[in-house]
Amino acid sequence: MRTVTLPAPDDFDSWRDAARPLAAAEVPPDDVVWQVGEAPTDLFAGESVAHEAPAGAGFTVPRPFIDLARNVVLANDPERFALLYTLLFRLRREPKLVEDRADPLVRRLDGLARQVRRDIHKMRAFLRFREVDEGGTPRFVAWFEPEHHIVRANAAFFVNRFASMRWSILTPEVSLHWDGKGLSEGPGASKADAPEGDPIEAVWKTYYASIFNPARVKIGAMLKEMPRKYWKNMPETALVPQLIAGAQAREASMIQTAQTRQDIGGNSQVAWEALREEAAHCTRCHLYKHATQTVFGEGPVDARLMFVGEQPGDQEDLAGKPFIGPAGQVFNRALATAEIDRDTVYVTNAVKHFKFEQRGKRRIHAKPGAGEIDACRWWIEQEQMLIRPDVTVALGATAARSLLGKVVTIGKERGRALTLPDGGQAWITVHPSYLLRMDDKARAEDEFGQFVDDLRKVKAALG
Ligand code: URA
Repeated sequence: MRTVTLPAPDDFDSWRDAARPLAAAEVPPDDVVWQVGEAPTDLFAGESVAHEAPAGAGFTVPRPFIDLARNVVLANDPERFALLYTLLFRLRREPKLVEDRADPLVRRLDGLARQVRRDIHKMRAFLRFREVDEGGTPRFVAWFEPEHHIVRANAAFFVNRFASMRWSILTPEVSLHWDGKGLSEGPGASKADAPEGDPIEAVWKTYYASIFNPARVKIGAMLKEMPRKYWKNMPETALVPQLIAGAQAREASMIQTAQTRQDIGGNSQVAWEALREEAAHCTRCHLYKHATQTVFGEGPVDARLMFVGEQPGDQEDLAGKPFIGPAGQVFNRALATAEIDRDTVYVTNAVKHFKFEQRGKRRIHAKPGAGEIDACRWWIEQEQMLIRPDVTVALGATAARSLLGKVVTIGKERGRALTLPDGGQAWITVHPSYLLRMDDKARAEDEFGQFVDDLRKVKAALG
């Protein structure tokens, strides 16, 4: 019997580092006990003898397994590490097992991953900050009780969204503190440590709005006008600065801003999956009623380059993936000619549902209107905050309108860098389907060349 002791309940990397050599050495799942700290998590395992996991070569596991495991590790189920290891072990002989939704183990793990994604979403949707005065400067403190071990996994989301605030999120297991530059981690807290009272909804909303369009809101002025009726003379308020100071003194780790993205990259993946899951149920406009499904963006969460199209077409709607139909073929050819690897870029659409007119058996593309673009802007902004691309490329007028919040003329704006409301760099070029619609072959080739030239400039801008 071997015992693997993981340092933290949400530590995917340590689980993977231990599990790979064990599976490579064909150690049966029944011979491994997984525990966190000193506490056994696999309550059903027999007596265990401490044993080092053997070093040695791992083996390649399919990407969907890694994606699943990153979520499952966060679940509040004491058997999760053992269940994942059983799946990993079986994958050696059944490489496609992870796709077999009829398999009871896969179904159970999928269920756990779904619960985790929901919890991540709940934390993002329901957590509310309260303002406390910390030596003359405001700090925003929130108390949250997650069902699963999702707090670190959600850190990237809150850092991205509330980058300019100083905030603390207190939870029973761990607390997170952001000082505007670095994220630090402290021990768990209790509800009594957190300030009570009405959450400062106006601040919350102001920050949402400010992040989405800073040109629209003057945050400084709004904060000054905000009534400071909270906390000042309340006894429990005094605890909060102490708590924060104490927690900071016992910081488990300090992450520099420059490293934040890299360090919490795995967690961005989990947060992105939660976002995609949330978007799958989007009813922000009426388009969901007739489309087959939400077609969310696709690509690595640490992509430096993001492409935004208009909306999914017929084939994308059926497959649930962006740019795989005829326009996608043109897009792929142009990317290849410009020597941009599609696997390294994030590809999404301004509108996530297919809008069409039914003509007989055919579904004919219909242009999304301003209301649909505006309703869907929520998703693209969330994608941008998570991915934080260095450069975003708008393919066509709808994408440009969504990103810049105004109508632009492609011919006038293409071929040069523009600045997005969040400070990121944007480029505008034509939509690939514009090239497809051209009857004149010579002109189409010429336009294709210009499209590729734009992409080459974008590539050069990335450095
Ligand atoms: N056109 C788009 O704008 N997006 C797609 O995903 C497909 C076609």
